[in-house]
Amino acid sequence: MRSSRRVFPFAQGVSDGTETAGANGNTRRGGDGGGDGDVGGDGDGVEGGGVSRRQLLGLFGAGAAGAAVGAAGGASVATALANASAAGAPDPSRAYAFHGAHQAGITTPAQDRLHFAAFDTDASLDRDGLIGLLTDWTNAAARLTQGLEVEEGGAVGGSDYAPPADTGEAQGLPASGLTITFGFGSGLFGAGDGASDRFGLAARRPPLLEPLPRFQGDALVPELTGGDLCIQACADDPQVAVHAIRNLSRIAFGRATLRWSQLGFGRTSSTSTAQATPRNLFGFKDGTANVKSEEQAAVDEHVWVAASDEPAWLAGGSYLVARRIRMIIENWDRVQLGEQEQLVGRSKGAGAPLSGGTEFTEPDFSAEGPTGAPLIAPTAHVALAHPSANGGTRMLRRGYNFVDGNDALGRLDAGLFFLSYQRSPQQFIDVQRSLAADGLNEYLRHVGSAIFAVPGGIAEGEFVGQALFT
Ligand code: HEM
Repeated sequence: MRSSRRVFPFAQGVSDGTETAGANGNTRRGGDGGGDGDVGGDGDGVEGGGVSRRQLLGLFGAGAAGAAVGAAGGASVATALANASAAGAPDPSRAYAFHGAHQAGITTPAQDRLHFAAFDTDASLDRDGLIGLLTDWTNAAARLTQGLEVEEGGAVGGSDYAPPADTGEAQGLPASGLTITFGFGSGLFGAGDGASDRFGLAARRPPLLEPLPRFQGDALVPELTGGDLCIQACADDPQVAVHAIRNLSRIAFGRATLRWSQLGFGRTSSTSTAQATPRNLFGFKDGTANVKSEEQAAVDEHVWVAASDEPAWLAGGSYLVARRIRMIIENWDRVQLGEQEQLVGRSKGAGAPLSGGTEFTEPDFSAEGPTGAPLIAPTAHVALAHPSANGGTRMLRRGYNFVDGNDALGRLDAGLFFLSYQRSPQQFIDVQRSLAADGLNEYLRHVGSAIFAVPGGIAEGEFVGQALFT
């Protein structure tokens, strides 16, 4: 195992998704620094971070080359191509900057694996204790995302007579694109009665950070719902993501307790035009029409809380909605292909809208078939989720597939752990209300739900969410 690593300059500068050398002089956990084979896995890639024909076409076809070059501040096309390569395929040695204008893990190209955790603060925790916890989490996350242990020599370099500071299962593993994103739940801001404001944050509550309304068909389980704090750990190696959550939970001991957590695999969205669209467990491409990081204007309009929004401390942040959506896989698998496609509104193979074209063709909801019926049913998922049905609303989806064993009836406990980032929770609420008529609902059950305010990024020397306390 070599300790050297390949470093890509990444076009997004200080924003979410920045890659770093992490050159802070510390010994790394590991990493072989090599490429991981076929970029994008479509057979036309090149080894070790080159650019495939598909990526070249995707990059220029989507008009992203200009954006990438522009974002790089006039960098060369070669740099833009390197960036496209960096975004397009997992590279074990890839490390994203922890510090920046936005937290990483939002517009960062979606990694393959997730460990998400929601915490309740312990009743004894006060304001100073909360600041201490956020400081300790920040310090650990800044190291973990660079492929380092929680502390220098954390796993085996300490005293034989004390528990190791790092649990050790990521020894020898490189950064694997790990991002750690923190969010604040409504409970941090008191119960609203002024009496239970133990952190002194009631006056700073974001007015929009209300519990989500009940939606039609919700079957929420309290044990999978809510939380005062959340941590989203995404990486291309599941052990690296789990190691992060495990160690951050351990650091929180006596201050915050794990309320619920979720493992995810096979990202169900792309957040970069350089990424191939993955598939959800219904077998459909998912993420085609997602907000992509290269769409800077759309990201600013739909994802980041603006400086002109309330409250000021949340500027550069976002609102995160998490929904554990169980899929009734066994029933779905008995549905005819044509009906599956009608329910989604797209073809199962190519992911093209049923109104025609290819994957990235805009759906035409007015197109009619020979009988005069719309080619895309008005109750199809994409018809109801499309911005045209929701006053122009979009969101950045960043969910994952999950399979958590099976239930007592022998059915897979499987589904989609839906994560979306938006400038206002109202964006999710509007689309989810619109989806009340969604034909897919027969095969879905929302069992978990949470909403968090995700603070903006921080500079070195600050702790995550510091602006909330100043
Ligand atoms: C398990 C549940 C779900 C499944 C299987 C699912 C599946 C899909 C698929 C296959 C697409 C088309 C490809 C794409 O553009 O990404 C899509 C699009 C979309 N979905 Fe979902 N989805 C689910 C839940 C949700 C939820 C809860 C929301 C938000 C409340 C949502 C919002 C959207 C949006 C905004 C689009 C893009 C529509 C467009 O602009 O064309 N989805 N979904």
